Amino acid sequence: MSTQPAHDRLVTDRRLLSTKAYGTGQHLAARQSLYQWQTPRHDLPGIIVNELAGIEGAVTDVGCGNGRFVARVREERPDLAVIPMDVSPGILEGIAGAVVADAQRLPVADGALGAVLALHMLYHVEDQEQAVEELGRVLAPNGIAIVSTNSRTDKQELESLWRQAAGDVLGIDEGPARVQLSARFTLEDAPEMLGAVFSDIRTIPLPGVIEVTDAEPIVAHLASYEAWADQMGVPFPQTIERARERVNEAIEKSGAFTITCLGGILVCGGPRR
Ligand SMILES: C[S@@+](CC[C@H](N)C(=O)[O-])C[C@H]1O[C@@H](n2cnc3c(N)ncnc32)[C@H](O)[C@@H]1O
Repeated sequence: MSTQPAHDRLVTDRRLLSTKAYGTGQHLAARQSLYQWQTPRHDLPGIIVNELAGIEGAVTDVGCGNGRFVARVREERPDLAVIPMDVSPGILEGIAGAVVADAQRLPVADGALGAVLALHMLYHVEDQEQAVEELGRVLAPNGIAIVSTNSRTDKQELESLWRQAAGDVLGIDEGPARVQLSARFTLEDAPEMLGAVFSDIRTIPLPGVIEVTDAEPIVAHLASYEAWADQMGVPFPQTIERARERVNEAIEKSGAFTITCLGGILVCGGPRR
């Protein structure tokens, strides 16, 4: 699926995001856990903590999800006041001090923050230019925004697996693509979009290869797109089951199912006023 208006509406649909997609942390956790089979392992929260080395005062994690980054920053930088924010109230349950807020209208005064995090979330925001403006607005002059997303080449093997499994179910060569979350804000496009507000952008690429010898983590990853099940043009449970069979066949044949990953973190300084 490409970045067409209908696709964009699905990926940014607030009601769907805050209920089926992120009403709890279950689907996000399934996607996060696939990386435990990646080589090399990237300690993302550790990288964020390192990038915050010179930062003082308050830090907001916008679209903080299940609070994985908030927890680590709080643990390693107790001197920082960390404010978790997300539009999905359910996923914030149990995260101390969390605020329900939209990246397009942050409830934060101009120049109030030492840093703002927007990790794997800008692709869900309807008006991305406005959200990037907000990231710049809330930062002190020497503050930084830390943003992350995936490359358009990320996990292509999972996309092929889905289309082949969907094709098998529909009795055609290749079925329709599934919803592609990061297609609206790829690692390749991010510097230009962030460059509208930030004068200094450094990209940390995070390449890796996931190898699994059991279909379950892949099935869980595919199933985490359940929120969009009705929109994918193919029966969702049957496609997942067919994908499971295909992964098992690949593991039997080659010993593992391999997925090539490319994510990245963008550290943005020099917010323009
Ligand atoms: C893929 S998850 C990423 C969570 C976390 N940042 C991480 O990297 O693990 C995307 C999160 O962004 C939130 N979100 C989506 N649109 C948002 C918006 N306009 N403002 C704030 N949060 C938003 C979702 O509710 C979800 O928790």
